[in-house]
Amino acid sequence: MDMLSVALPKGRLGEKVYARFKAAGYPCPSIEEENRKLIFENPKAGVRYFWVKPSDAAIYVERGAADVGVAGKDILLEYAPDVYELADLGLGRCRMCVAAKKDFRDRADRVLRVATKFPRIAGRYYASMSRDIDIIHLNGSIEIAPILGLSDVIVDIVETGKTLLENDLEPKAAIVPISARLIANKVSYKFRHDRIMELCRRLESLTEKG
Ligand code: PRP
Repeated sequence: MDMLSVALPKGRLGEKVYARFKAAGYPCPSIEEENRKLIFENPKAGVRYFWVKPSDAAIYVERGAADVGVAGKDILLEYAPDVYELADLGLGRCRMCVAAKKDFRDRADRVLRVATKFPRIAGRYYASMSRDIDIIHLNGSIEIAPILGLSDVIVDIVETGKTLLENDLEPKAAIVPISARLIANKVSYKFRHDRIMELCRRLESLTEKG
């Protein structure tokens, strides 16, 4: 059988995503072995999996290196890749939030300094409120920025809230809920439509609503 290629996000989310694909009837025994390989296939089930950096999954799918993939809604909103979003898998649920030091009081007459990994999401959010901001684009450990006075607030992902709590920050506003989405390459969607929709239906039947 012609194999469907799937870009999976490496890491904690990826383990859960693979478990969901397996339960949906797309197992791949070799991926479950302890090793550092990045590509795995099971011709019997008709799938080939790649482990990619979570923020890159949409790029592989957009450019057709993978037929389908799984990416967080945060990545889809930030980079707006030219792909179809087929299903919400309900995994990796978290929210994009504004957070700041507990004693932070916003002053509307000042430009707000916003540190984030998601400049487009942050920019759109504040533009919708006609608020002038200065974006400080960081790549990780965003929570440090307000502590060191680099920014007034951060726009970042909050899952359990532990990272904020342990750094004396608190959420000030929720911007958008986030979860993992099944995405498809547009050409694959057209030419491998039945296979992709079958996968989508099987995954959706296992998704808990919430
Ligand atoms: C993410 C996010 C927060 C943390 C939130 O970081 O940027 O720092 O997880 O999770 P929590 O609410 O459960 O504490 P990630 O682990 O992706 O690392 P990063 O610092 O590189 O962004």
